[in-house]
Amino acid sequence: MGKISNTRIFLIMANIESSGRDGFTSKFGVLAAAAGSAIGLGNVWRFPYLMGQNGGAAFLIIYLGIVLGIGVSVMLSEFIIGRSAGQNAYGAFKKLSPKKPWFLVGFMGIVAAFVILAFYSTIAGWTLEYIYLSAVDAFSGKSSDDLQSIFVSFTQSDIRPLIWQLIFMAITAWIVYLGIQKGIEKYSKILMPSLFIILLILCVRSLTLENASVGLNFMFNPDFSKIDSSVILNALGQAFFSLSVGMGALITYGSYVNKSNNLSNTSFQVSIADTLVAILAGVVIFPAVFSFGLDPKEGPGLAFVVLPNIFQQMTGGVFFAVLFFLLLAIAALTSTISVLEVVVAYFIEELKMSRLKATIISSFSISIIGVFCTLSFGAFRNFKIFEKTIFDLMDFFASNILLPLGGLLIVVYVGWFLNLSLVKSEVTNEGTLKGRFFGVFIFIIRFVAPLAIMLVFLNGLGIFN
Ligand code: PHE
Repeated sequence: MGKISNTRIFLIMANIESSGRDGFTSKFGVLAAAAGSAIGLGNVWRFPYLMGQNGGAAFLIIYLGIVLGIGVSVMLSEFIIGRSAGQNAYGAFKKLSPKKPWFLVGFMGIVAAFVILAFYSTIAGWTLEYIYLSAVDAFSGKSSDDLQSIFVSFTQSDIRPLIWQLIFMAITAWIVYLGIQKGIEKYSKILMPSLFIILLILCVRSLTLENASVGLNFMFNPDFSKIDSSVILNALGQAFFSLSVGMGALITYGSYVNKSNNLSNTSFQVSIADTLVAILAGVVIFPAVFSFGLDPKEGPGLAFVVLPNIFQQMTGGVFFAVLFFLLLAIAALTSTISVLEVVVAYFIEELKMSRLKATIISSFSISIIGVFCTLSFGAFRNFKIFEKTIFDLMDFFASNILLPLGGLLIVVYVGWFLNLSLVKSEVTNEGTLKGRFFGVFIFIIRFVAPLAIMLVFLNGLGIFN
């Protein structure tokens, strides 16, 4: 046993050294980092409120179908591009298809990373304020209106949200600066298990509340009359955002995965973990929402207004509130590092910068855009383009345009343009794995996924409804 694992470690190290590139050192490291990227605010903050607004269980069933039917294959496509090229998202396309315009897909991913991190870090910063507010017991004795105004006055103020956002960016930058093995892998391996433990504790608390079953019923008892095209399309958009696909984050992570990793298994496991966390986040939130007679359709404020209301009424509320916002912050952090790494890897490999310089320049410039996103809740809240604030515009541009378009081009590229035997060799690790689902995978990325993604995309732009 000891001998085998020593040999394996040797092979992995040899692999990393021979390429001269930093990389993940263990299967668990890959899983923790990729699941860390996928599991984020999208699961704990966005999924429950979308589910609340889109009919509960019916939404969940559609979502599951999309993740398994399409999501896993899009993720696998990204890993294939990344690992076979061993390059950043832009360099990967340039290496695999030189002199073809496919590198533009990679470039779009770099742009998407800038945009996503700019607005994502706003919400990530809020989680830090809410850890603080929970710890100083700021919610107790407050009415719903009070909690609403705490939220509004915090998000509208000029300085505090900015400070938290910059602190969050600094932590992200620090981990990314440390590199793959000593930064991203190391911290993901600590943070992801902590996240699962916190989530389970919160589930137990929520399920032991009075009338928890009403919330569970809302989650698991589908009313199919609620399903219409907008529910389906919302589920598809959410699946992409949540799985971190469409912008090259998983191309970049894939480039650090060693050749012995089973990419299909990894894609499957990451997708399952991501979905499990979204469901568990719902299990934490809905029984509590119903138990305290609040509205599941509250929207984006669900986590920041409805939950504090629940915590302050609950025994041990301070403790559970701190845990919950800590969970949100951890989930956000393992996602922000994956987004920043997309840009940093690009700067290092294409613009020949050191990791330190690449990290400083990228996080600094993203923070500048981020400041505008944060202030679009405060000083700039009346400044609108196409009737959207800067924050909404960035969110829309990334989630409804860049990610679906990127995802579409990625599956079309792997399905129709990348050499089929190269694809097969990546999926089967040069024929050493069976690759039982290879045919299904190819069918999905050639036909099913492009069609489905096209639908979300057109819907996102309002061309098709
Ligand atoms: N998947 C992350 C979440 O659910 C967000 C993300 C999107 C991260 C795209 C990386 C790339 O919060």
